[in-house]
Amino acid sequence: MRLHHSVLALGVASVAQAANSWIVPGAAWMSTSNTKIDAHGGMVYKQGNTFYWVGQSASHNEQPFMYTSTNLLDWTPTSNPKNSIQYMWRPKVAKPNGNWWIYGQVDRNVQAMKATAIDASYTLSGGKVTLPPSGYTYSDTGMFRDDADQTWYLLTSADHNTVQVNRINADGAVGDRVNYLAKGAYEAPGILKANGIYYLIVSGKTGWRSNPNQVFWTDKLVGGSWNGPVGIAPEAEKTYNSQNTFELTVAGSKKTTYIYMGDSWDSKGGPDSNYVWLPIKVDTSGKKLTLEYHAQWKIDVATGEVQVPSVKRRYEAELATLDGRAAITQCEHCVSKRGVYQLNGDGVVRFGNVTGLGGLQWVQFHYHVPPSSEAGAWVSVNDGSAVNISELNHRAGYHSVVPIQLDLKEGSENTVTFGTSGGEGIVLDGIEVVED
Ligand code: GLA
Repeated sequence: MRLHHSVLALGVASVAQAANSWIVPGAAWMSTSNTKIDAHGGMVYKQGNTFYWVGQSASHNEQPFMYTSTNLLDWTPTSNPKNSIQYMWRPKVAKPNGNWWIYGQVDRNVQAMKATAIDASYTLSGGKVTLPPSGYTYSDTGMFRDDADQTWYLLTSADHNTVQVNRINADGAVGDRVNYLAKGAYEAPGILKANGIYYLIVSGKTGWRSNPNQVFWTDKLVGGSWNGPVGIAPEAEKTYNSQNTFELTVAGSKKTTYIYMGDSWDSKGGPDSNYVWLPIKVDTSGKKLTLEYHAQWKIDVATGEVQVPSVKRRYEAELATLDGRAAITQCEHCVSKRGVYQLNGDGVVRFGNVTGLGGLQWVQFHYHVPPSSEAGAWVSVNDGSAVNISELNHRAGYHSVVPIQLDLKEGSENTVTFGTSGGEGIVLDGIEVVED
């Protein structure tokens, strides 16, 4: 982490709200119960018009938790946990027969559980088993259902670096190994199928720290050989500070959109961990997948179309009121080629006359933190108490656009003040207030 969490004061803006207007990669994602969504290393499955998100609860000893949604934005907790089992890592759901099943890693073996409805309570189905063909212990679980043969496949990554694909039999038991990848140290597997090509997405092995996730492909899941790897995002982005867990296909009336679901872990995989979901661009002729980075986005689940904010009011930092040492500087990456620096101590930027719609509103802060800097940024609205931006969005400083929610008054009388703490080197380009 480049940024220090030196909070100046608490209060002002709360990220909690009942309806979410955007998917904001890396920001705290609140449920409709105003709790932070706690379903890490998980997956999403659609049944009817409802999406079910299952994952491990970092605040409850990695029990399997589930949430439901009809729009992929607003998620309601089901009765949780799905079972009292603890330390079940990366739980995944499947429906190989009349029951619903959850498979996850417990003590480096597979534990299966089943239920009569996807959101019911699950009962353990037998004990922990090692994976066929023999004594394969592993860490990370993935899931893929092939529409071609209507078969569910369990994906696993092992301590000895083999990523393995096992068929799930009609009775729910883990069946034969149908494929494996032995091309290096990879984990966190997921598969996406597009235009007849199977893409295997995996991360490198760096514990909770993010790394550049990779893509392999084959045209035959059973027995085919894997080509690759090719990175899924620019290497330096480290998968936008996340690790793969699942690929969700949304087949809409206008287009099919593939969604990368990643975990943005905190340093211990704890409750401060967040999610990075992004649309995936599929290049079928080049056999490549690329994450389409958006600071904020959403999907129309009926049409499959992705939307990003289109109505924004922009305020340039160099045109705002500068206090103390704050001064205008040339800035190559800034929209107007100028920005404001010397933003520490008494150096602050005050945007007066900011127009608000009344209530919580997304505001994108465009600023740059040099990689070696230890600076953190804070914001205050209408001279309220200052809040560290990384408290509102822990990706502050990783990317040049940091969306956070601020409570703005209706009308053009708002003042938004931006400052930094603990270091030099931040250049503020401007702010953009999102109105859609
Ligand atoms: C890997 C796994 C995670 C977690 C960490 C622990 O990154 O993918 O799920 O187990 O290791 O270090």
